[in-house]
Amino acid sequence: MEIVILPSAAEVGLLAARKISQLVTRKPDAVLGLATGSSPLAIYAALAAHVRDGSLDTSRVSGFALDEYVGIPAEHPESYAAVIHREVTVPLRLDPARVQVPDGRAADVEQACERYEEAIRAAGGVDLQILGIGANGHVGFNEPTSSFASRTRIKTLTERTRADNARFFDTPDEVPTHCLTQGLGTISEARELLLVAQGPQKAAAVAAAVEGPVTSMCPASILQHHRRVTLVVDEAAAADLKLADYYRWTYANKPAWQQL
Ligand code: GLP
Repeated sequence: MEIVILPSAAEVGLLAARKISQLVTRKPDAVLGLATGSSPLAIYAALAAHVRDGSLDTSRVSGFALDEYVGIPAEHPESYAAVIHREVTVPLRLDPARVQVPDGRAADVEQACERYEEAIRAAGGVDLQILGIGANGHVGFNEPTSSFASRTRIKTLTERTRADNARFFDTPDEVPTHCLTQGLGTISEARELLLVAQGPQKAAAVAAAVEGPVTSMCPASILQHHRRVTLVVDEAAAADLKLADYYRWTYANKPAWQQL
């Protein structure tokens, strides 16, 4: 794992965006895995700025969202279809036809999940998957005890996740109880993973994911089995990392061309 510790949350977004810009410049039809939540917002804002100033052309980029709530309409402002449209597709000027979100309203959920997996395969797989991390170590909505082999499917949200996401809704009861999420097996097939985390509430999860045992109790620990993973975190999210000094030293002493 490449672990980059930066002084501030703002710098996390800028550096992660730089890495994605480099990919899109190298591969204009890149397939990006898109995460929702607060963590990647600074990335999208930075990428949007590159698009506006003409330094990044995203017209051929495709995107696949990690997950979607079940039980709220697509028009709900907090459905992930709406969030991805508002925070990613519009500001990054992506072609809406190339952006997909799991269909949380499908009558046949199993079929919708299979179709989603098929769409990712048909696009040639995900080149770079953006990830946040839940305070309980979830990625996408793969809650603790999710199988490392899991594919896109329906999941029940934990009380912790519902409480954490209540800030996006008028009342805690409005937070859906279920979701569709790419599985850990699906996510692992992305050619590259980029996880960003900011703030002290993520410190324990980041430490468990990076330095703890690989266990389904911390779904993000599956990252330890992937060959191309970059974690970009701020000092607060890095606070529980035992080898933080080693990561800082390693990154600082890389030749410039190897740094992000
Ligand atoms: C959310 C999403 C995840 C996200 C995580 C952390 O509920 N399903 O994709 O990474 O939980 O969210 P946040 O970035 O808002 O802390």
